[in-house]
Amino acid sequence: MSNNIQSVRGMNDCLPEMTDTWQGFEAIIRDWLRRYGYREMRTPILEHTGLFKRAIGEVTDIVEKEMYTFVDELNGESMTLRPEGTASAVRAAIQHNMLYDGGKRLWYTGPMFRHERPQKGRYRQFHQVGVEALGFSGPDVDAELIVMCADLWRALGIAPTLQINTLGDVESRQRHRKKLITYFEANQDALDEDSKRRLHSNPLRILDSKNPAMQALNDAAPKLMDELDAAALAHFDALQALLDANGVTYEINPRLVRGLDYYNRTVFEWVTDQLGAQGTVCAGGRYDGLVEQLGGKPAPAAGFAMGIERLLSLMELGSVTLAPAVPDAYIVHAGDAAQAFAWKVASALRGEGLAAVLHCGGGSFKSQMKKADASLARFALIIGDDEAAVQQVTLKPLRGTSEQTRVDVAQAIEFLQKVST
Ligand code: HAM
Repeated sequence: MSNNIQSVRGMNDCLPEMTDTWQGFEAIIRDWLRRYGYREMRTPILEHTGLFKRAIGEVTDIVEKEMYTFVDELNGESMTLRPEGTASAVRAAIQHNMLYDGGKRLWYTGPMFRHERPQKGRYRQFHQVGVEALGFSGPDVDAELIVMCADLWRALGIAPTLQINTLGDVESRQRHRKKLITYFEANQDALDEDSKRRLHSNPLRILDSKNPAMQALNDAAPKLMDELDAAALAHFDALQALLDANGVTYEINPRLVRGLDYYNRTVFEWVTDQLGAQGTVCAGGRYDGLVEQLGGKPAPAAGFAMGIERLLSLMELGSVTLAPAVPDAYIVHAGDAAQAFAWKVASALRGEGLAAVLHCGGGSFKSQMKKADASLARFALIIGDDEAAVQQVTLKPLRGTSEQTRVDVAQAIEFLQKVST
């Protein structure tokens, strides 16, 4: 056994039972995004490393130590498996001139890759649903993004809580940054190693430290809130008014800074205390500078991404189940004539949109019925030579107590269609 090749650490297989759940989740997601007028886009999993360095920031955990980066031996270029989807969405929007006629509401889903220490809720290949509203500057779109999340949580039967903050604009951040550096320089001795390293490159991230020894120092640090200009404050106020008007409750968390550098103004996280250390199920905010930073004509933008594995864990904890995909009928047959007829019956059912599993591999009726039961199908269609001779099937319920009946194929189809709706 130990010689067998296993999956890569932190990267998981999704077996059929679990895939049923994922597909149920994805169906809800597609319908939800359709109702809000967002359109799906698909971008490559592999991008030039420079894209993420420029978009996410050189001095972030993701770029410094979590990216799967390698040199393409064929052309010497540095490539990276995408650690997130915003950079790719913006790159594609610029590359295809998508914003020439106004704002675009976009979404994507798929695997993302980060070389983090795997634990429950934190994987090296994980999956996000990301939503990006490109070209909209007002607080109304920030509110739309948050309200639509609240709507989804209701549909999924979960209740994470919302934290919001504003990071202000470039000038106020620069003022704040200068004050932070002065403050932390004056307290050099109290800084841990990580914070010392970040002092001049990214002092804002020091505030994000999880080190308890840093808490008191961070609590007394200069507040960004005190540096915000009137326009950013008005934006934040308008967002709160819209959330209030739409019944979304939230907590303002002045410590919320996010681990990616592209944000400005609104940032938010949906969190839960039910998943241990990995409690953020969805996160995002405004990133008005990113389109220009990646070479496009300046355009405001906002968005978020949710971690699918974390959301599914949360649903599981709340015993929310998504109905597994079960076959409408399992067709058992014995004898040559029966087998030939069974193939025709299976084809007729499938032609009418029903899911029919045709027994393969022979065996007695009894052993075939065991397989039928294990398939979770609600009905077995039994075909012996008797049935084949008169082109009929015996319809046997596999759940409940109703009796089996002999019917024509058309009747069986009509019945199965009725009970499957
Ligand atoms: P992020 O906060 O890095 O933001 O990730 C968003 C979500 O992805 C997290 O809240 C979490 O649920 C999930 N996630 C992140 N890393 C892992 C992991 N290693 N294992 C499992 N789940 C994980 C972004 O990625 C931004 N692109 C969000 C955004 C979109 N901002 C604006 N638009």
